[in-house]
Amino acid sequence: MASVENSHAQNNSSAPCVDMGDNFVPSELGTKEYWDNAYRRELETYKDIGDVGEIWFGEGSMNRVIKWMEKQNIPQHAAILDIGTGNGVFLVELAKQGFTNLTGIDYSGASIQLTRSILEGEGLTDIKVLEQDFLALGPELKGFDVCIDKGTFDAISLSLEGQEVSKQRYVTSLRAALKPHGHFIITSCNWTREQLLKIFSPGFDVVQELPTPRFQFAGVTGNSVTALVLRKHS
Ligand SMILES: C[S@@+](CC[C@H](N)C(=O)[O-])C[C@H]1O[C@@H](n2cnc3c(N)ncnc32)[C@H](O)[C@@H]1O
Repeated sequence: MASVENSHAQNNSSAPCVDMGDNFVPSELGTKEYWDNAYRRELETYKDIGDVGEIWFGEGSMNRVIKWMEKQNIPQHAAILDIGTGNGVFLVELAKQGFTNLTGIDYSGASIQLTRSILEGEGLTDIKVLEQDFLALGPELKGFDVCIDKGTFDAISLSLEGQEVSKQRYVTSLRAALKPHGHFIITSCNWTREQLLKIFSPGFDVVQELPTPRFQFAGVTGNSVTALVLRKHS
């Protein structure tokens, strides 16, 4: 299991992290086929040696979100949606911290198979897991207190279908999924705080930026990952 902050995602050319500026560079990382192939391979590895695969942005990226939720006294029965759950490891961590009303969705069938296998291995059979495109959200997926996104908006931003359309559909789905005043916690390597605020307002207020590891390069200090908590208006 990867344990280094900013693991693979920062160093591997297959990560959905690109210097976008305000421009859009479409990529295979924005396709369902890419993720199906990736999670099919990870499922085989999990079956062979029990390795759950990639922890996007490292384990610290889950810890900081969970810490924030605990500090804010988000109730353990709060309805939580993990958008683009991948291998479902975030769901496992949330369950281990006592959260009981968890749902994970992903548009990759292979991701859902992997997530179900991992949850079964952990004896966590109460977690809902659905194969679902977040950009075409059904009416049953609403009323969440908290929506979490770790790397999924980044992947969606690389969609071949067009950045603006995908971004707008994402925001529409997010508004539909969250209860009034519900929280959205996003971890992104493609978008800065300012860019995220521009994309998600109007309709959301910033609550807090969670501190992420800083790097120094050529005398300039910056963050390679942005973690932001937003709250939906009524
Ligand atoms: C970088 S991975 C992150 C996975 C997971 N959140 C994690 O932290 O390990 C991006 C994920 O987004 C999923 N994804 C991309 N577009 C999606 C969409 N439109 N609806 C649902 N899931 C999507 C991919 O299948 C993949 O699992």
